[in-house]
Amino acid sequence: MASGMKIWFVLLTTLLMINFRPFLVMVKGEPQVPCLFILGDSLFDNGNNNNLITTAKANYPPYGIDFPDGPTGRFTNGKNSADFLAELLGFDKFIEPFATVKGVDILRGVNYASGAAGIRDESGIHLGDRISLNRQLRNHKVTISHMSTLLGNKTLTMDYLSKCIYIVGMGNNDYINNYLMPQFYPSSHLYKPEKFATILMQQYSKQLKTLYRYGARKVAVFGVGSLGCIPAELAIYGTKDTICVDSINSAVQKFADKFKPMIDDFNNNLPNANFIYINLTSIAIGDPAEIGLTNLAEPCCEISSFIAKGQCRNGGGACSDRASHYFWDGFHPTEIPNKVTAIRAYTALLPTDAYPYDISHLAASTLALNKLGQSAGAELM
Ligand SMILES: *[C@@H]1O[C@H](CO)[C@@H](O)[C@H](O)[C@H]1NC(C)=O
Ligand SMILES: *[C@@H]1O[C@H](CO)[C@@H](O)[C@H](O)[C@H]1NC(C)=O
Repeated sequence: MASGMKIWFVLLTTLLMINFRPFLVMVKGEPQVPCLFILGDSLFDNGNNNNLITTAKANYPPYGIDFPDGPTGRFTNGKNSADFLAELLGFDKFIEPFATVKGVDILRGVNYASGAAGIRDESGIHLGDRISLNRQLRNHKVTISHMSTLLGNKTLTMDYLSKCIYIVGMGNNDYINNYLMPQFYPSSHLYKPEKFATILMQQYSKQLKTLYRYGARKVAVFGVGSLGCIPAELAIYGTKDTICVDSINSAVQKFADKFKPMIDDFNNNLPNANFIYINLTSIAIGDPAEIGLTNLAEPCCEISSFIAKGQCRNGGGACSDRASHYFWDGFHPTEIPNKVTAIRAYTALLPTDAYPYDISHLAASTLALNKLGQSAGAELM
């Protein structure tokens, strides 16, 4: 097993070095798809929470210490995985946040992601305001109506929207900032893990169908990671020698198990649907030391001891060996794991990384566009 992992990571290192061209050295050209829309939580947020009244924000140092523009609201030291995916898809600029995007820029796509947001509206409320998935979908509807104005008519807009890639990453906060916080949220008193996972997936499935009704045909749904292994959860539920909190991982696994059947259901029953599942459990397989990640336990930045425990302290310090830390703060990875996630989501390294295929194939897939305008457009406005 160990030698197998080594081979994968040698492969991965090769991918990191050769196959991956950041903006600076990229040959200018058309992106592989005309537009990229991003819905999600803090793992994808690039500034939507900056002007919300919430402690779930990251537009202060040391966040962004390795990002060209400094602190932007990204919950990491550098780029997040949505940024890397935009690069891999050939965009020459990052996808702008809904909070600030203007004019024709919406034609390249919009990032709606919001830290602390969940599938359930109440998730994250103890931290303040956040843009739940339902709100993100309403924001997307606003974008589409502007897009219709720019493009001239609804048929053209629906045709255009069907060619975009949508990446959606939700569910982490329905656990971290809901189910695992019995002092603030009743969900764990009301539901056993299996039941909670079931109702959560039912709601998520409805929301993803709404995205489909809004014209999305190429959708990559990111799963949830091993939340029982993040420093913030270990700080609450771990004991001195625990590496992961098994009860948390097993509760979250019940939710993870429901992604594949949902994806199959969409692809079998929604005309022209191309949904894929990005398996973060699979992407986590391998020996991180092979790519220099030797510190897997301690966050790199100085953690705030006040509200939003687990985020970096405003103006606090950061470790200098950021390339060897897996975790940036108590919740979020540093830039390097973000890059690995994006690369393996784009080009699967293991067959289980993406189901039924990876984002590079999603980008290349062609759709039968004939019925599209009518079937989707009818539901739009
Ligand atoms: C929409 O615009 C396209 C391109 O300009 C045109 O061919 C088509 O007839 C228009 N459809 C409607 C319903 O106006
Ligand atoms: C996700 O990856 C894990 C680890 O390899 C695997 O056990 C699981 O079956 C995968 N899930 C899917 C839907 O492929």
